[in-house]
Amino acid sequence: MARRNHSMNSSLIAKAPSEGYRYQSFDSNCSKPTPSCLFVCSHICGLCFINSRPPCCLQKELSQFWYDEETSTLLAKAALECVGEEGKIACVSSPSVYNQLRKMSESKEHYLFEFDKRFEDKFPGQFVFYDYKSPLQIDSKFSSYFDLVIADPPFLSEECLEKFTQTINFLTNKKIILCTGAIMEEAVKKLLHLQTCNFKPQHEKKLGNEFKCFANFNVDEIIASNKN
Ligand SMILES: C[S@@+](CC[C@H](N)C(=O)[O-])C[C@H]1O[C@@H](n2cnc3c(N)ncnc32)[C@H](O)[C@@H]1O
Repeated sequence: MARRNHSMNSSLIAKAPSEGYRYQSFDSNCSKPTPSCLFVCSHICGLCFINSRPPCCLQKELSQFWYDEETSTLLAKAALECVGEEGKIACVSSPSVYNQLRKMSESKEHYLFEFDKRFEDKFPGQFVFYDYKSPLQIDSKFSSYFDLVIADPPFLSEECLEKFTQTINFLTNKKIILCTGAIMEEAVKKLLHLQTCNFKPQHEKKLGNEFKCFANFNVDEIIASNKN
């Protein structure tokens, strides 16, 4: 299974939190997490667990690859513009977009579906625990609830995308934006029937894989107009 480019070497994480970036690394062999084996620092989400109680470092799937500020802002703006003031947006496994949404909109109808429970503290009320391995284990009130879903699956595998497809199709019958590795392009078209966008999401840390954005509407036009 192809995975995001990330390091499991905890010795690489000794960087100062003051740099204003975030870095997260997990030592999968660590049975007893300590602050020294985990750094989580985020200027976007305001989480910083350095020298405090870390979440379990066995959860190596929580390795995060955050969009840069421009990408998360452009995606959030485009989503809000598409759905209008009364619209409902679900960010699935895309917390930095959700974080921007919350800065731009006071609506309580935008939700974050996320596996990383640290975001529950940050967004109480609008956080929904989500594990793609149980793709339909979601409150029935969210069936076809959303006007737009933005998703970024944690793994570059067809199995993961299939499960995300079930979730996305449960949450909406309207607009979809999906960001994932370019190697998933064929599967995205087959499973979700999305078109490839020109817009290329950028990350704070350089990824080893080419990354793309897919949608079932012309998101490029909206993003371009917001860039001008
Ligand atoms: C690579 S990150 C995408 C983050 C996105 N680029 C952003 O900046 O918001 C993948 C996301 O999937 C989440 N994730 C990890 N394991 C998951 C699981 N089992 N089910 C659903 N989401 C999961 C991670 O917590 C993370 O938010």
